[in-house]
Amino acid sequence: MSIVVVGSANLDLVYRVERIPPPGETVLAVGSDSAPGGKGNNQVIAAARAGARATFVAALGRDAAAERLIASLEDAGVDLRIRRVDEPTGTAIITVDDSAENAIVVDSGANRMLDGLDDSEREVVAAADVLLLQLETPLATVTEAAAVAHASATTVVLNAAPIQSLSAAFLADVDVLVVNEHEAAHLAAELTGEAVHEASGEDLAAILSRLGLAVIVTLGADGAVVRVPDEPPAHVAGRVVDAVDTTGAGDTFCGALVAELDRRRGTNGSAGSGRPDLGTLVRAAEFATVAAAISVQRAGAVPSIPSLEEIHDFNSAS
Ligand code: RIB
Repeated sequence: MSIVVVGSANLDLVYRVERIPPPGETVLAVGSDSAPGGKGNNQVIAAARAGARATFVAALGRDAAAERLIASLEDAGVDLRIRRVDEPTGTAIITVDDSAENAIVVDSGANRMLDGLDDSEREVVAAADVLLLQLETPLATVTEAAAVAHASATTVVLNAAPIQSLSAAFLADVDVLVVNEHEAAHLAAELTGEAVHEASGEDLAAILSRLGLAVIVTLGADGAVVRVPDEPPAHVAGRVVDAVDTTGAGDTFCGALVAELDRRRGTNGSAGSGRPDLGTLVRAAEFATVAAAISVQRAGAVPSIPSLEEIHDFNSAS
């Protein structure tokens, strides 16, 4: 059983502010820090900490930021298939306010150089049980990875973040789509041409599942909606916690989700191709919701990702 993540890695520069400034305004931070981040990096570490055998295909520069990211990936036990390229490692400027919300700007840097898969990377993807993708690296590479995985009956999970235009042809290679409400609304409007103003998470999941894939719409503190084509929706309850920083919570959810899907795969969890059945997805989403609830109680992306033991302890305490 194994998970492969093809995706981005950034060094996050995090500024704690009372409120995120609107355009044209300067605010003073109450503190700042730096930590490993990037959606792909956060997700693969979340999968590894949640107990999965995880491999990361990514591009990093030849700089101190790259060394820091590699040390943190190795510490989490992730297998590395890293390209070292002549571009600076990706960075992200993150402001986090007193209500735990954030605003993020990414300078992709080396992530742009993950431009197509080489033969050995294609082999790694084809051999995986579950492939997890996001949209911070070139879309052509993400599309290629999904196609390679789909042809090998690898379960393909796409976290469609940050928002981008996606083709129905690409989504045909995806088994499970994970999106928040904003991403879901954008994709639903674009792919179906339907008006989605004020649509609920359940409505959005129903619209997107008509594309023939399973859909999980995450709802922050309200949990998630899970929808499989031609079946009724299932709601996964949120966990009530005091959030201090939501940065990376969606990534923690995705990494923990695939770790749990991978554990359950091969028992009774797969329907035909690589698509897990509704019950398996719901149980994996419950597990992922706990992981995300733990992460929002701590600062930073990678530093906040829980271990399997912490997820089990949270479950037995609640
Ligand atoms: O999802 C959070 C992540 O988004 C941060 O770690 C930042 O690097 C950006 O990729």
